[in-house]
Amino acid sequence: MALLIDSRDLAGLISVEDAIDAVRKGFTDQGNAPSFSAPKTRIQYEDRRITVHPGGCPSLEVSGMFIHAERFTFKGDAQQYNGAGRRVYVAYNSETAELRAIIVGSLPIYPFDTFEESFGTETSITSAVGTDLIARSDCKVLGLYGTGLQARRHLVAMSTIRPIEEVRVYSRSAENREKFVAEMKTHCDLDIRGVDNPQDVAIGADLICCATNTNVPALYGEWLSPGQHVTSIVNSTKGVKEQAGLAKTRREIDDEVVRRADMILVNIREQSIVEEHGDLCEPIEQGITSWDDIVELGEILTGKTKGRTSDEQITLFKQNSDQGVGFMGLAGLACDIAESKGIGIEI
Ligand SMILES: NC(=O)c1ccc[n+]([C@@H]2O[C@H](COP(=O)([O-])OP(=O)(O)OC[C@H]3O[C@@H](n4cnc5c(N)ncnc54)[C@H](OP(=O)(O)O)[C@@H]3O)[C@@H](O)[C@H]2O)c1
Repeated sequence: MALLIDSRDLAGLISVEDAIDAVRKGFTDQGNAPSFSAPKTRIQYEDRRITVHPGGCPSLEVSGMFIHAERFTFKGDAQQYNGAGRRVYVAYNSETAELRAIIVGSLPIYPFDTFEESFGTETSITSAVGTDLIARSDCKVLGLYGTGLQARRHLVAMSTIRPIEEVRVYSRSAENREKFVAEMKTHCDLDIRGVDNPQDVAIGADLICCATNTNVPALYGEWLSPGQHVTSIVNSTKGVKEQAGLAKTRREIDDEVVRRADMILVNIREQSIVEEHGDLCEPIEQGITSWDDIVELGEILTGKTKGRTSDEQITLFKQNSDQGVGFMGLAGLACDIAESKGIGIEI
């Protein structure tokens, strides 16, 4: 018997810590069994698109996919959604091949997400898994680019994995910054303030997080200093570039960030290769770095390669798209909670 679960029924039952642990386990399985995962696949017609994230986690006994559909548009230099349907998890028992659950909707991990805004909650959790692996353990100052949905979630996720005391945030609109600061102060007991200049986010921060929807760099490498960590979430697809008529591939960080990074981490390299992500492909084309020098989450989690080796290193986590293995880790967690609480309809 499988369960049909409305993700809203899990509200208040999934902590940020447990979600991070579940995604970490998913990527550990990916490192142990890379052939049981594949990059997300996206098909697109004009501004319509469907994205499928397949993956399997044998140690968690879950495999399947996460699927979603959007209509998207561009306003100035930023991507926006004209429509985004509810996400769907399809989770099988990887060992028996029986269907375990269909979960409708992104998981309700953060208390401030309204139902209309409730997609993409998983992204900040993946960001936290990678950041936790390579950022210095004593990061206290968080520099944040963006004041939207992902920025809110990244603030909470980053302050869950590190002893953050101070947050500096920049986005282009002063009104958005003020609103963000006022709102997030009600959720986090932190010194949160907006800054007028983007470089004031990065200079002096321990941990820098780019959680924007920009097409052009928000963070420049000339602002970085030794010991800092950068996490960046914008990725581009060939389809988005063509549809938006962009002259250049989307970027969130400039080449100098990549040049100055002593180590670069991604979710899985293949994702950026097939989608030609600008933040990595353009510096690679110029010889600034190479795929051989870029490591994957699963490789560090399984001890196949090292992460940060000194407090002086600048590290970069290019969070190059949530993966099926992370979603399946979360699906396993959601199924366990639903089964123990009697949530969902048997189908
Ligand atoms: N890696 C992944 O797995 C993954 C998954 C899902 C989504 N994403 C990314 O997340 C993005 C959507 O984020 P969202 O839902 O948070 O969007 P959102 O709610 O529309 O917020 C986007 C924010 O970016 C800010 N922004 C735009 N340009 C900026 C710049 N140059 N400097 C600083 N801030 C800037 C905007 O504020 P102002 O207008 O005030 O500047 C706004 O606050 C998507 O574009 C996608 O690329 C990544």
